Amino acid sequence: MDAESNDSPYAGTLRAALADLLVEQGAIHDERVAAAFRLVPRHLFVPLVPLEIAYTDDVVLMKRDETGVAISSVSQPTVVALMLEQADIRPGHRVLEIGSGGYNAALLAELVGPTGEVTTIDIDEDVTTRARESLDAAGYPDVRVLRTDGEFGGPESAPYDRIIVTVTAWDIAPAWVEQLAPGGRIVVPLRFRAQTRSIAFDLLEAGSRWRSLESRSMIICGFVNMQGAGAAYERWVPLHGELVSLSFDEDQESEPVPPEWVLDQPKASAWSGVLMNREEPLSDLDLWLASTLPGYCVLSAEPRALKKHVVAPVPRWGASAMASSHSLGYLTSRPAPDTDYVELGAHAHGPAAEDFAQLLVDQIRSWNEHLRGGKGPTLRVDPASPPPDRLPPGFHLRKKHNYLTLTWPPA
Ligand SMILES: C[S@@+](CC[C@H](N)C(=O)[O-])C[C@H]1O[C@@H](n2cnc3c(N)ncnc32)[C@H](O)[C@@H]1O
Repeated sequence: MDAESNDSPYAGTLRAALADLLVEQGAIHDERVAAAFRLVPRHLFVPLVPLEIAYTDDVVLMKRDETGVAISSVSQPTVVALMLEQADIRPGHRVLEIGSGGYNAALLAELVGPTGEVTTIDIDEDVTTRARESLDAAGYPDVRVLRTDGEFGGPESAPYDRIIVTVTAWDIAPAWVEQLAPGGRIVVPLRFRAQTRSIAFDLLEAGSRWRSLESRSMIICGFVNMQGAGAAYERWVPLHGELVSLSFDEDQESEPVPPEWVLDQPKASAWSGVLMNREEPLSDLDLWLASTLPGYCVLSAEPRALKKHVVAPVPRWGASAMASSHSLGYLTSRPAPDTDYVELGAHAHGPAAEDFAQLLVDQIRSWNEHLRGGKGPTLRVDPASPPPDRLPPGFHLRKKHNYLTLTWPPA
């Protein structure tokens, strides 16, 4: 098929406007990434939606499973752009993408140029078939598309300078590290403590079997969950007739949970005096709370729960919370009088409500005093087998294949 005949001046105008928006909003800083967005015809990768939707900064859902859960999508352009910037793709790089849709693979092909190579793999044959057709239609026949479980990487074309994972992973698969070339980088939406961050990891020790990774940047994001051998699922605990839910990670299986009616118990609140701009992201504070509070989980609420005043408003990604077998506390905010700011605080319910609210507020203050405005945390990944002699100091999490260590350089 002739790629140019599939494009149109109108599509080109919408595409340029989307690229401009991403630059304006700060998702794109690298002119090469902007140029790729101006070139790749996204509408050919989402053929069932109108042109205007194809060039809106939004995810396009492509497939749900039999229970209605989203399992495949063409990702939101902002997230795609942020991850490409994190990956720092150079001409001539060999790149593996895990989770295909075709669009990101085409952008990668533009960035690596004629001397580079792009392989994209997906576990779902419907997805790889569609990606192959769209890449051909858009003029990217050299991108290799394979149907396989990304947990095992893509040994056929390894080693890679960059591996970009576009599905939420719960751990770093050993194959990814093994297939990374010296000086390589993995960008992956990693879930830990019920939160997901797109993290750029660099390889620390090349050439030996003992290969550790260290984060270079972290961005809050959301993706569909990985299927196959690397699948891991969040533990959801419904409260108040399912209007509210708590999510814990798989490694928190044994953490106690409060009774279903805990939010009906009288509320205790505490306020921190810490003010924030409404637009300021809470993602670093959430990670601080995740690494310091016992019983950490994330509270999400249906709009009806807010209308019925079951809980106070919670952010889009959910609110940091702490739970025990009898009580629950969660992060909240209230308008600060005579300013455009909000004050952070906590609400809690149950017999330990006062202690929980105070503990949350103490940690908000501690973050504000020592860490706010700093570089943010660093995450290190060390293989769990053979067991390491010692881990770097910090907050440790044991995953299936690795230990994660979160450290906080002072602000
Ligand atoms: C968000 S979509 C990928 C979006 C895509 N990169 C784009 O260009 O917009 C996530 C994909 O990951 C795939 N996936 C899930 N588990 C996988 C696994 N274990 N290995 C490979 N692909 C997987 C899903 O089938 C889905 O198509």
